[in-house]
Amino acid sequence: MTEVKPVFKPNKEFAKTARIKNMCEYQALQDAAMEDYEGFWGSYAKEKIDWIEPFTNVLDESNTPFVKWFEGGKLNVAAQCIDRHLSSRKNKAAIIFEGDRGDKQIITYLELYYNVNRFSNLLKNEFGVKKGDRVVIYMPMIPEAAYAMLACARIGAIHSIVFGGFSAEALRDRIADADAKVVITADGAFRKDKPYMLKPVVDEALNGETPVQKVLVVERNGEDVTWTAGRDYSYNELIKHQAPTCDAEVMDAEDPLFLLYTSGSTGKPKGVQHNSAGYILWAQMTMEWVFDVKENDTYWCTADVGWITGHTYIVYGPLAMGATTVMFEGVPTYPDAGRPWKMVEEYKINQFYTAPTAIRVLHKSGEDEPAKYDLSSLKVLGTVGEPIDPPAWKWYYEAVGGSKCAIVDTYWQTETGGHIVSPLPGATPIKPACATFPLPGIMAEILDPQTGEKVEAGEGGYMCVTRPWPSMIRGIWGDPERFVKSYFGDVKKDGKPVYFTGDGAIYDTEGYITITGRTDDVINVSGHRMGTAEVEAAIKKHPNVAEVAVVGKPHEIKGEGIFAYVVLKSDKGVADEVEEVKAINNVIKKEIGNIALCDDIVFAPGLPKTRSGKIMRRILRSIAKGETITQDISTLEDPSVVEKIEKMVKA
Ligand code: WTA
Repeated sequence: MTEVKPVFKPNKEFAKTARIKNMCEYQALQDAAMEDYEGFWGSYAKEKIDWIEPFTNVLDESNTPFVKWFEGGKLNVAAQCIDRHLSSRKNKAAIIFEGDRGDKQIITYLELYYNVNRFSNLLKNEFGVKKGDRVVIYMPMIPEAAYAMLACARIGAIHSIVFGGFSAEALRDRIADADAKVVITADGAFRKDKPYMLKPVVDEALNGETPVQKVLVVERNGEDVTWTAGRDYSYNELIKHQAPTCDAEVMDAEDPLFLLYTSGSTGKPKGVQHNSAGYILWAQMTMEWVFDVKENDTYWCTADVGWITGHTYIVYGPLAMGATTVMFEGVPTYPDAGRPWKMVEEYKINQFYTAPTAIRVLHKSGEDEPAKYDLSSLKVLGTVGEPIDPPAWKWYYEAVGGSKCAIVDTYWQTETGGHIVSPLPGATPIKPACATFPLPGIMAEILDPQTGEKVEAGEGGYMCVTRPWPSMIRGIWGDPERFVKSYFGDVKKDGKPVYFTGDGAIYDTEGYITITGRTDDVINVSGHRMGTAEVEAAIKKHPNVAEVAVVGKPHEIKGEGIFAYVVLKSDKGVADEVEEVKAINNVIKKEIGNIALCDDIVFAPGLPKTRSGKIMRRILRSIAKGETITQDISTLEDPSVVEKIEKMVKA
């Protein structure tokens, strides 16, 4: 049985004005959605979206899992995020930007409108970008990254952001898969008071055959970069000549808004596709419900726009609801681990949203820092990306939140577009490290993968969503079969395939959901998804490597670290282990980027395999964790290999 965790009731004062004030209101919403699913979503869609033409049908499931929401409806997501606020919020701060070095910019909704329009005109008139074209964005955390996203949305181009920590090879693959004709980048930016570079990575990625015709370079750090004539253009120069208004393209509800590549358990990264109306509706509704942002609030999410959290909860969600969103270029521990708290004090931040890995770092390196600042403006604290451990949760709750703020442990994924299981800050009695309940309208259940039945408390099962929801993934770019196979293959309820997240979860006796982690070969490193298959493919590019198996291993700060078992080609042993480890990590750096570097590399004499040649990763995971092997290994091709590897790891 699971232990029943302590409960923290919502702050009474906060609850009085919260959008959802208690569990009865929550239940009433959830019941309404159960009773009339289409009515529930249809009425929110009508209320929340500024339609150019109204939709005629709420949900079409005739070709499930390829569903359609709000058919017939026409809108523009950039207009939803900007134009509709001009009548009431034109002078309100849309984006507050703080640079690594402490430089600041406040961009009002009216300024955002002009900046995005100019950007749209640039893409359209100078580069010939049209509706449906793919544009890759490889940018640091600067306001121009948000302008670029919204400019694409305004003209109907599909953006695909590649996180700035990915290598040239990773960028090249994503550009090729999306067949992008434009890349938007920057010379680089600043980190820990020093310039770092992005443009050289783009140059390398475009070396050789590429679909890319134009590269737009935002000059942020002013460092020297190479310019390829006829291909590369300075944003700072071109933007001066653009008209400040640009008509918003009229988009269908189901026109694609963006692609975002993410790791799966097998093969290359998948281009997760999100479409217009359903995505923006849920981005906005979850901002309102889960963060409960009010008109005068200042909201800060520390993610990077290169990940889904940055898409939904730095740019689209906050702007769709007309909020003030903070964007930060730097790292939370520079110049010291009080940086975020200093910013909370200075901007009077009301909602702060970050990842458990950041909380652990800030806790470890600056336990007493929060006490040095006035954090009384904080109302809601959020976490996302991986299970949070109770000590980190406790520190966040007490030292940062002063034991008066709700912690919303938001569970969701790139594919879900927005939160699906999360506390509501004014309603849900919270338990540490617990995602609590499905949000209203989300039919999320923990199912037994064999029977498709809902599991009993304490049993554990697969986290599934049994009905389509508006912001769900619409497809994997260019690979409809993989879409069906990846998400609708493993669990059937009442004989029908349902969406499976890839995560395990467990109910406690009060029905609270705790996410227990991935059930597949995906590792969660500092809240970033990494496919073991991808890391293995990278390591295999090293000429001395014969075989490799990669697993996750618990890591104090990162949540999970990457552990690789490598079998070298020559059986003469490893001449210089340190050099060999360096060489392997260099290959990873080149193929994927620093985020996939291994924490441990063991040069194994062989890998534990079944007689049919399948690598027994479960055994390797246990060895990495230092657990005793309890599985039967007698059926392995070479059982002795297990003992040998165990000895090496222990040494
Ligand atoms: C994990 C990030 C526990 C989970 C938004 C999921 C979580 C993966 C939580 C998605 C949470 C996310 N508690 N685990 N609150 N939130 N995860 O696509 O394994 O980068 O499948 O999206 O992160 O990662 P992704």
